[in-house]
Amino acid sequence: MLTQTPAWVDLAEHATLVRSLHLSRIFAQDPERGERDQLSAAGITLNLARQRILPDTWNYLYALADQQQLAVSIEQLFRGVTINHTEGRAALHTALRAQTADELSDASQWTDIQAQLTRMQGLVDKIRAGQWRGFSGRAITDVVNLGVGGSDLGPNLAVSALQHLKDTHIGIHYLSSMDGAKTASLLKQLNPHTTLFVFASKTFTTVDTLANAQTALEWLIAHGASKQLAYQQHFIGVSANVAKMSEFGIHLDHQLQFWDWVGGRYSLWSTIGITLAIAIGMQGFRQLLAGANQMDQHFRYSAWADNMPVRLALATVWNRNFLGIHGKAILPYDARLALLPAYLTQLIMESNGKSVDRAGQPLNYATCPIVWGEVGPNAQHAFYQLLHQGTEAVMCDFIAPLTRPDIVQASDPATREALAYQHQLALANLLAQSTVLMLGDAALATPPSDAHKHYAGNQPSNTILLDQLDASSLGALIALYEHQTFVEAMLWNINPFDQWGVELGKQIAVHTLQAMRTGTVQDFDSATRAVLSLLKQSGENQP
Ligand code: F6P
Repeated sequence: MLTQTPAWVDLAEHATLVRSLHLSRIFAQDPERGERDQLSAAGITLNLARQRILPDTWNYLYALADQQQLAVSIEQLFRGVTINHTEGRAALHTALRAQTADELSDASQWTDIQAQLTRMQGLVDKIRAGQWRGFSGRAITDVVNLGVGGSDLGPNLAVSALQHLKDTHIGIHYLSSMDGAKTASLLKQLNPHTTLFVFASKTFTTVDTLANAQTALEWLIAHGASKQLAYQQHFIGVSANVAKMSEFGIHLDHQLQFWDWVGGRYSLWSTIGITLAIAIGMQGFRQLLAGANQMDQHFRYSAWADNMPVRLALATVWNRNFLGIHGKAILPYDARLALLPAYLTQLIMESNGKSVDRAGQPLNYATCPIVWGEVGPNAQHAFYQLLHQGTEAVMCDFIAPLTRPDIVQASDPATREALAYQHQLALANLLAQSTVLMLGDAALATPPSDAHKHYAGNQPSNTILLDQLDASSLGALIALYEHQTFVEAMLWNINPFDQWGVELGKQIAVHTLQAMRTGTVQDFDSATRAVLSLLKQSGENQP
């Protein structure tokens, strides 16, 4: 077991010393650590100095990376080895953002990827040029992505983060949840003559997305589209399952493909990104890929000490397994990144929420922390109270762009000046919060006498700064987290690329829905039975 290995035992022993040190003392004893623990690549700067990590600790952590043969795993990832062994697949999302064929072990993959990008460009250009017509011959004004999980979160985040680069009047919308409540209100605002749906699903069997697509189809037909034109002119399909796209009725020319070796939560880089390409153009989409590729190169070829994803992952493992920290908060200080926490909760927790090792043996150590987050300035007025004075230690990621060139888009100098002030205000708050979390009362000239005003501090954090928020740096930022998540999994000896934990609930839901529709309640546990009986009485959900 990992916990008995030399590197782990050394870390455990070293941790007994570090646990007794407060970050204020660590900084006082090592005043240059701020400059030393800062590294940059791909338009991103990472500062790790606020971690409860001593220079020696890093060496012990690098020894863990070596012991776990991290270098071998990284090569296996990039070379397309079947590292997702429980599903018998490679995890080759990095291939989707390769910039040259030489980067790939299999040349045919390069050809396939480029062919799909060309197809995607054809559809994107047609839509953006107003040449894609709805059933009554009018140009498309709105595109709705129907997808959930990885088929929603990536493009949704990217379109929101790059809203300042959107250069089309076409409205882009996302429907993911199966309940149909948002579907109902969005459809009320849209014009069926000019709305195009992107049915985005790796498997093309996800009930959530099928349900939304079915509702969209009924809506089109109810508003005058023939069944044939509804399918033909109002749906694009994006999937790894070509047969299912055809079975659903997506026109062959409107099918975009990706492959089994792309995990759902790693699919933004594939044709799943079509809504982003519609929003910012194909060139912008390619910049996203290029930025992610820069991070790939950095990750693949940098020594551990210079390697941002590796050092972030080592810090997570240190916090989780040796300092006993259970929570990780993602705190972007830029409202355009509001969807980043949601995106990362899937990426990190669906990947690393595991309790058996690669051989299926139960683990005797902790894995993935609980990840959540919110736009930092808003979270300051919500849950920072717990970060500062609660009983839980939490590791935080503070994220912001260093510069805001988008401000020049504001029409007049006075507004531009006011916006520049707001950017400074946000950065000052980011630094202030991470300082207080680190130092606690030591940030004050005089320590408080009232216990209610006491700040314990000693909460570790990372500061992640983008040179600016653009397609390239966003690609690099997401790739940074992807690789960090991968490294954590390699250190914990788990498979980050499967997600068996989501399957059982789906199966039971099929059975429950059937019972609901037939009114049979007796087969269930009493808690389910009680709710089903209530539903039966209300007359809701009966066929
Ligand atoms: O249920 C989990 C999951 O399989 C995710 O991994 C995936 O991103 C999501 O569902 C959507 O799946 P699909 O793209 O096949 O519809």
